Amino acid sequence: MFNLKILVTYFTKTNNTKKIAEAIYEEIELNKEIKKMEELDNLNGYELVFFGFPIETYGPNQEVRDFLKKNSANKKIALFITHGSPEFSDFLAPWLEESKRCLDSSTELLGLFNCQGDVAQFVIDHLSKSDNPTLRYFAQESSKIRGQPDETRINSAKDFAREILSKIV
Ligand SMILES: Cc1cc2nc3c(=O)[nH]c(=O)nc-3n(C[C@H](O)[C@H](O)[C@H](O)COP(=O)(O)O)c2cc1C
Repeated sequence: MFNLKILVTYFTKTNNTKKIAEAIYEEIELNKEIKKMEELDNLNGYELVFFGFPIETYGPNQEVRDFLKKNSANKKIALFITHGSPEFSDFLAPWLEESKRCLDSSTELLGLFNCQGDVAQFVIDHLSKSDNPTLRYFAQESSKIRGQPDETRINSAKDFAREILSKIV
């Protein structure tokens, strides 16, 4: 049981998801590794994988989708996801459902953590110019967020990690 090998892996563009990954990693007291998704060929050899990514245009980006589709079969996975929208946003549920659908039907999903992260200025600038009023609204709201994920969210991620670990040891 104590030889369990646990991986924390993540995709990130602006480091919000990396901050959550590092918080989760800190909570693991077993044999552990932390790697960017791009550094991995597959998920072989790990009994549990914490897998993180941002929501990009209403779901995981194509690289993340492809990686999960190819490598999640028969794995125990806990997902952690960051997004620019507040956690209470009505938009969020379908994006999280879409994220889960990227897993193989044989994957054992142990849990899903999600939290708000700052939205990069280049995204805000891009969305501000959109013809779509929903995207312009998203840009306006996103420019008000600062310093996310904050300490409270980081601590929630640590709680999540402990809860997942309690399911396997
Ligand atoms: C191209 C792009 C598209 C995005 N689309 C969404 C979106 O649909 N909904 C949302 O809530 N946030 C969206 N975001 C914001 C990111 O999900 C958020 O900033 C996230 O925390 C970034 O994580 P990272 O720093 O690990 O890359 C988008 C960001 C980018 C770069």
